[in-house]
Amino acid sequence: MAVQPLAVDIPASILRDVIELRRDIHAHPELGFEELRTSAIVARELRSLDYEVRTSIAQTGVVGVLRTGRPGRTVLLRADMDALPIEEQSGVPFASVAPGKMHACGHDAHVAILLGAARLVRERRDECCGTLVFCFQPAEEGKGGGKAMVEQGVLENPRVDAVYGLHVWSRLTPGVVAVRPGPIMASSDSIEITIRGKGGHGAAPHETVDAIVTSAHFITAVQSVVSRTIDPLQPAVITIGSIHSGTTHNVIPDEARLLGTVRAFDAGLRDEMPARIEGVLRGCCRAADASYDFQYDRRYPVTVNDAVESQYVRELAARTLGAANSVDLTPIMGAEDFSYMLERRPGCFFFLGAQPGLDGEPHHSARFKIDEAALENGVRMMTALALDAPRHPVQR
Ligand code: NI
Repeated sequence: MAVQPLAVDIPASILRDVIELRRDIHAHPELGFEELRTSAIVARELRSLDYEVRTSIAQTGVVGVLRTGRPGRTVLLRADMDALPIEEQSGVPFASVAPGKMHACGHDAHVAILLGAARLVRERRDECCGTLVFCFQPAEEGKGGGKAMVEQGVLENPRVDAVYGLHVWSRLTPGVVAVRPGPIMASSDSIEITIRGKGGHGAAPHETVDAIVTSAHFITAVQSVVSRTIDPLQPAVITIGSIHSGTTHNVIPDEARLLGTVRAFDAGLRDEMPARIEGVLRGCCRAADASYDFQYDRRYPVTVNDAVESQYVRELAARTLGAANSVDLTPIMGAEDFSYMLERRPGCFFFLGAQPGLDGEPHHSARFKIDEAALENGVRMMTALALDAPRHPVQR
């Protein structure tokens, strides 16, 4: 079957505004659930474009709805709005003016892209069908703004049939859209452990139960959960990122406190992780005569793309941006709270290449930058989804 191209031309004035807006938001970063300025800009713009606007969803979330009155699916397009607690060192002329805050993940670009698409869609309103939901969510960075939006009914009234979101990526060629069906980003859970021994003199270890030595055994042994008990073809990570114990050279402390993160790519494997980790902890503590507290907090789920929707987005990217700009995505061990929407509705989370030259810094780096040339294809892709996804008859 011949593939129908879907042209999305962006007037130079809209593109200029998108870049200007992205720079403005970049200069004024706001942390999760504090995106007051950003969400006010979003709401004002959506209102001026005549969208039906709802604000203060999950504190700072904003939704703009367009009901065309023509038959078709209800499609949600999502952008996250929050920045990170990082002191910016990128050297860009529009760097953060807020001390200790930075858009180091590209969410500034996501907001500008989706607002640009909302503007373009407004101009092409007569070509639209179904219902469009432009969703701007707070607090993606660890605080679960996406979950809060779902709990506050963003997928109902109108009832959403499919969800799409994009993430700029500093390690991908600018302008390419990268897609993959199935699991694309890991689950992210956190562990908090206290190992309790019996303190005493550093010269008399036999009179103590050494919480530090017990912790050291546990930290080493817990790595064998991944290397010895999980299928080598199944990605998983256990990282202990913090250890606190003791006060000085010659005192064996009573207890040690450990913090860690656990990642998996499969929901079933994720479910097994708490018991596997606690099993090692129990064994190490029993051998040493120590006791423990173990807390396992489930945070973001695995981000799983629907197979049919992913194939659709892959094809749509080729139709809109050309086949060379539609590529396969390599899975990413980071986590994403768009996963909460994808747990409830079919959809696709895809990546937009935005590598700034050959030395692109990773996301969450103080020197993180993007190539703004990527924004154009981002607007094209979100607009193409708005125009086409409501009429796409998905076969399941
Ligand atoms: Ni991000």
